[in-house]
Amino acid sequence: MTGVTVRAPAKINLQLGVGPRRADGYHDLVTVFQAISLHDDVTVAGAGGPGGDRVLVSGEGADAVPAGPGNLALTAAAALAQAAGLPRDVTGPIEITIRKRIPVAAGLAGGSADAAAALLACNELWNAGLSHEQLREVAADVGSDVAFALVGGTAVGQGRGERLTPALASGAYHWVLAVADGALSTPEVYAALDRLRAARDPAPGGSGSGAALAVAGPEPDPVLDHALMGALRSGDPAAVGQALSNDLQPAAISLFPALRRTLAAGRELGALGAIVAGSGPTCVFLTASAERAVDLAVSLSGAGVCRAVARAAGPVPGASITAGTP
Ligand code: C5P
Repeated sequence: MTGVTVRAPAKINLQLGVGPRRADGYHDLVTVFQAISLHDDVTVAGAGGPGGDRVLVSGEGADAVPAGPGNLALTAAAALAQAAGLPRDVTGPIEITIRKRIPVAAGLAGGSADAAAALLACNELWNAGLSHEQLREVAADVGSDVAFALVGGTAVGQGRGERLTPALASGAYHWVLAVADGALSTPEVYAALDRLRAARDPAPGGSGSGAALAVAGPEPDPVLDHALMGALRSGDPAAVGQALSNDLQPAAISLFPALRRTLAAGRELGALGAIVAGSGPTCVFLTASAERAVDLAVSLSGAGVCRAVARAAGPVPGASITAGTP
């Protein structure tokens, strides 16, 4: 088949520190991303014939992925054409085929992975010649997690999550993923966090009662967890497991209370660390080895606390071309 195929990884946030809501509605983050072996495959080819762009989606959660204008891979292709100065009547219509393995709206950045894949594939297909750095700039405009899906590995993200610095990490990390029976919308989880924080720290002069509440200030800016970074440098999964943190977790649980039971089950079954992935509702569990991950996956399946269980290892490289000719 003509076309370019790209493999793009899901991500886990080992730390997700969330600052106050900004004027533009986003939140400043300090996050530590790790790309994992769970991935989607995206093929972009010239569509030929009459009609416009087409998106075909198959696999995990395919029905929930928009095949029209709301598709992030399609948005990414349009953004690349614009950045490269290629009018769409020159590039011609495209067909994007997405083979999904990353669950949809699950906190694992599956849509961002597809967008990153489309950027890389279109750059090749159209001979657009954008450098990696230029692709990362386009990626940042498409979505907060898209640049990381290009870069992969382990990296610290700042700003909306799009300003990336590679992180020193050694060793391999073996994860078990508990895929929830349901989805969460990222903006709704951030909004729930804002509400939880506002209820905890009412604005001075607001309807809060009691002098103790009046001393609460604005949410401080998040800081990088140096215990986590040290644990990653030394490749110590037990210490990484201890240091996992996610400021969005209480918000995700407030919208999806069943996650509390899923996390507790993973901890009781011996996970080194248990955390909601990004904005959820997937829960991820760190284990000491590939064998332990198999054991935990089997036990977790039996516990009936999630829709599906998967295993993945990290870190893995970012989006890469696996097949194709322009
Ligand atoms: O950038 P992206 O489109 O992936 O973000 C989706 C939504 O998540 C944003 O519209 C915003 O509501 C929320 N978000 C945020 N702060 C971030 C990243 C995302 O509030 N750093």
